[in-house]
Amino acid sequence: MIEAPTRTDGAAMWRIARDSGSLDLNSSYAYVLWGRDFAATSVVARIGDRLGGFVTGYRRQDAPEVLMVWQVAVDAEHQGQGLAGRMLATLVDRVVADGVRFVETTITSDNTASIRLFTGLARERATTIERHDLFAAELFPAGHAAEDLYRIGPFGAVPPTL
Ligand SMILES: CC(C)(COP(=O)(O)OP(=O)(O)OC[C@H]1O[C@@H](n2cnc3c(N)ncnc32)[C@H](O)[C@@H]1OP(=O)(O)O)[C@@H](O)C(=O)NCCC(=O)NCCS
Repeated sequence: MIEAPTRTDGAAMWRIARDSGSLDLNSSYAYVLWGRDFAATSVVARIGDRLGGFVTGYRRQDAPEVLMVWQVAVDAEHQGQGLAGRMLATLVDRVVADGVRFVETTITSDNTASIRLFTGLARERATTIERHDLFAAELFPAGHAAEDLYRIGPFGAVPPTL
């Protein structure tokens, strides 16, 4: 089941991010906070009594028609089965119904899976994906690669069936 997270999901989200080996691991507090304050723009995948993955996001304060996807992670056991794509599709359906028209995310150039995930979203929704420079490596402490901006959209609300 793919649904909004709650604060009780934060610890499992933190563990999945930690074990991914490729995400920037934020504090456990950040994930618990996300389960309360950004639940409407995030999803978790429940598989049995465990979490198989999550997508965290927020609407940009200066551009509320944009959903910024912060992190996507699927635990190793469930990767390669389309779970990230299904979580993203569920989240996009929900926020587009609430006025979101664009999805943004940042990706490092070596993250092929993530680039394919967001390219697939644009393809499935028959919309465009653009890449722009955003956060150069020099903005981070040493050792962090540049984060490129990917902007997908516009998305339109699906018209009600007659
Ligand atoms: C990126 C990640 C979320 C993908 O999850 P997933 O459930 O395995 O992805 P899906 O099965 O939905 O596949 C999505 C697309 O990525 C591609 N993909 C998945 N794993 C891949 C890999 N290891 N290498 C290359 N492409 C990959 C799939 O082929 C698919 O593309 P396609 O539709 O063109 O075939 C997962 O690999 C992960 O958690 N990685 C570690 C954390 C991370 O890097 N997150 C992204 C940055 S926020």
